[in-house]
Amino acid sequence: MSSYFPTMKMKSRSNDEADDMYNVHGHVVNISRMTVLESLRRIIKAKSANQRDSLGIADFGTSDGRASFSLVKEMISIIHTEMGMGQDVLVYYNDQPMNDFNLLSKVIQGEEYGSGLTYTSTVYPVIIPRTMYGQCLPDHSLDLSISAVATHYLSKKVCQIQNGVFMVEADDSEQTLIREQGKIDWRNFVISRGRELKPGGFLITMNLSSDDNGSQPMNVHKGVPLLGSLVGDMVKEGKIAQEEYLATNQHIHYQRTAADFKEPFSSALPQIGELGLELVSVKSFKYYLKHPTFDIVNKDETEKLEYSKAIVAAIYPWMYHTLYQGLSVSRAEEKKEKIIDDYFSRLQKYAFEHSDHKPYVFYTEVVIHKRM
Ligand SMILES: C[S@@+](CC[C@H](N)C(=O)[O-])C[C@H]1O[C@@H](n2cnc3c(N)ncnc32)[C@H](O)[C@@H]1O
Repeated sequence: MSSYFPTMKMKSRSNDEADDMYNVHGHVVNISRMTVLESLRRIIKAKSANQRDSLGIADFGTSDGRASFSLVKEMISIIHTEMGMGQDVLVYYNDQPMNDFNLLSKVIQGEEYGSGLTYTSTVYPVIIPRTMYGQCLPDHSLDLSISAVATHYLSKKVCQIQNGVFMVEADDSEQTLIREQGKIDWRNFVISRGRELKPGGFLITMNLSSDDNGSQPMNVHKGVPLLGSLVGDMVKEGKIAQEEYLATNQHIHYQRTAADFKEPFSSALPQIGELGLELVSVKSFKYYLKHPTFDIVNKDETEKLEYSKAIVAAIYPWMYHTLYQGLSVSRAEEKKEKIIDDYFSRLQKYAFEHSDHKPYVFYTEVVIHKRM
């Protein structure tokens, strides 16, 4: 099995507002805004007045940096207000090496989507192209780490889902392998972040998950199985070859429960104790996606169309690469784009026809603290 795979880049679709995933999902990390800012204030308070070492904050699985952007700016502003403008702040942006770091660089410089980080001579952005399932920085480098909607991506492919694209379509033995890898990855993530944290530091993650009843995300009517079945339909119609179908497998575990997130602590891993990590909180909740049409009952045709575009917008950025990577390298680029367009037209048609559904997903916020 390959140990690394370039499957999870995010794809933006032109400047069409309705195609922007963030319009619908929002910047998920902001759901944890209060928790993050409260943790930052505790970190600042614990530092003595003459403690002037640089303050390190990091976003793991940042993509183009847009999602955490306003929160990072707010954190810098709080640090400088509380500790003085002379306080050095290191802002680390991590993602896997295949990520579009050029775009990230433009976003934080303010050349894309807005005004950029407020740079003073004491704010230093650092980009880390490396897997977050290993240690990315030396011991005791960071005060505060955040990560949003990233930990469901597995570090490697552990099985071939024979009859589907997603975990929910996998058979029992395939699911077991995915769950086992999910457990190993979460442990490695927590331990790596734990090593990087300075004593007194915090790790706050917002994870795509399930709830205690094993509920599935329903980002479209019938949820993830529907997304897989549309690919299956195109295979039956001969539009996508069987080998291509198998290559669209998504290596993600989006069904962790609160117990799964607590596991490194509940099974008392020795590293957790050695590092002085404490589990502060684990909160799972259902989150309704946001778009004006999602709340309209008895939509007219125009509203249904808008609804269906918004549903596609929220799925396109990550599903695009799932499809693209599956399509044979022997296909011309133009042909690949046509197949992908066909897929999203089908999805839009389905969403249009099932526009009464109010889309939702499940998130789990995990807060971890490193003892002083
Ligand atoms: C759904 S995006 C989330 C982006 C952003 N954090 C947000 O809140 O919208 C998931 C990100 O995780 C990154 N990712 C996946 N596996 C990773 C890994 N092993 N190491 C670092 N980043 C990874 C992906 O490249 C992608 O940018």
